[in-house]
Amino acid sequence: MNVNDSIWLVRSLKKRGFVEAPLEESGVIIINTCSVRDKAEQRVYKNLHLIKHKTKNNPNVFVVVAGCVAQQLGEAFFKPFPQVRLVSGSDGISMVPEAIERLYDDQDLRLNFTDFTEEYPERESVTIGSIEGEEKSPPIAYVNIMQGCDNYCTYCIVPFTRGKQKSRLSSSIKEECQELVSSGVREIMLLGQNVNAYGFDGQSFLSFAKLVREISSIEGLDRLRFMTPHPKDIGEDVVALFGELSNVCPRLHLPMQSGADKVLRRMGRRYTMEKYRSVVSQLKKACPTIVFSTDIIVGFPGEEEEDFVQTLQAVEYFNFVASYSFCYSDRPGTASMRLKDKVSSDVKAERLSRLQEKQSIHTKRWLESCIGNKTDVLIENKVFDEKKKSFRWQGKDPWGNVVHIHNGTEAIEAGSMVSVHVTQANKFSLSAEIVNLS
Ligand code: 5AD
Ligand code: SF4
Repeated sequence: MNVNDSIWLVRSLKKRGFVEAPLEESGVIIINTCSVRDKAEQRVYKNLHLIKHKTKNNPNVFVVVAGCVAQQLGEAFFKPFPQVRLVSGSDGISMVPEAIERLYDDQDLRLNFTDFTEEYPERESVTIGSIEGEEKSPPIAYVNIMQGCDNYCTYCIVPFTRGKQKSRLSSSIKEECQELVSSGVREIMLLGQNVNAYGFDGQSFLSFAKLVREISSIEGLDRLRFMTPHPKDIGEDVVALFGELSNVCPRLHLPMQSGADKVLRRMGRRYTMEKYRSVVSQLKKACPTIVFSTDIIVGFPGEEEEDFVQTLQAVEYFNFVASYSFCYSDRPGTASMRLKDKVSSDVKAERLSRLQEKQSIHTKRWLESCIGNKTDVLIENKVFDEKKKSFRWQGKDPWGNVVHIHNGTEAIEAGSMVSVHVTQANKFSLSAEIVNLS
């Protein structure tokens, strides 16, 4: 979601005539921050010092600090860093581009956008056609469907930095998706902190499953994905989507966080491993080719060796194709910060490496199982290899695997859909050859 906020900011500024420039030549510098895990604050301070140094503290150059860290620290940046003239939390981001123009007009102005809004803060449209000189849409787009989260998992800072859940109007979401597809987008990723709780915060929204159905029926949309669902909120209507809609991709990121019920309870996740297993098996029944990736936290306070072993066993059982694993870290204001039985850094690091080692076996197994498959790849990049004097391409298959291609014709561009034969498994990606090349 943070990356998508940055993409929107860049596009909205380009629409106003701004251009990207190296740090030393920039008149305005934006730092967009995420503090879901450790050290975000230190990184912001490091960057602010670097900017001060590189710009020789030029008072005509100004800095915008946006995102979670700005939400938490607000005006605290103003005094030590005179170049910082705007701080904005995620709800305020929709107003940032216009505010930057105001800051140019009024050199004494400093702005603070850290109040939470009551409703989803709609953003101006920045689809293709609105930016001068841009002719073609990237083939993949992200679309926000909500902001914030009401779950308060005990380790998580998101409800404090992004506020309570606010669903975006179904009509605005559908309109944006339609506009994107009309401008050449072939794959859409719907984004939210807890997508399947979409609409729980009001009455005038479609259910999440209904929303996905309506978007899926947009003519020309080849692939639809969504992130992130919460295992406790996946109902039969969401499961059915994977069996019935051919453009809903057969890969789901389903954060598990831990394989031990005791730890899940203390994390406030509100599901058991039995529930998680049942959701996975229902999804597999609806869509036999579906695969799963996950998020895991190791060393949550009170996690004992036997709990961690259950997490390892779960990785084995679910055969995740990828897992994003993190050492637990205290986040300011969260409930788990106050828990006493913290796990030492050494034990956390040791568990993380055992987990990652196990995951790499499963990832390897998964990628190797793809060799020999015939599948479709949506091309995202085309690069000319100076050494080999030839083009190479990169894209994704329906399972979200990154696929590298070396044979092709010049006509194949970002946005082309090609049929391939998978020839090789690499550490995190596949290599393939285009079939029926004419
Ligand atoms: N410590 C470690 N990992 C965390 N995550 C969220 N909060 C913490 C924390 N305090 C991880 C979770 C989440 C992912 C986005 O970041 O696994 O799913
Ligand atoms: Fe954080 Fe839990 Fe909400 Fe995810 S569901 S954003 S982990 S509080």
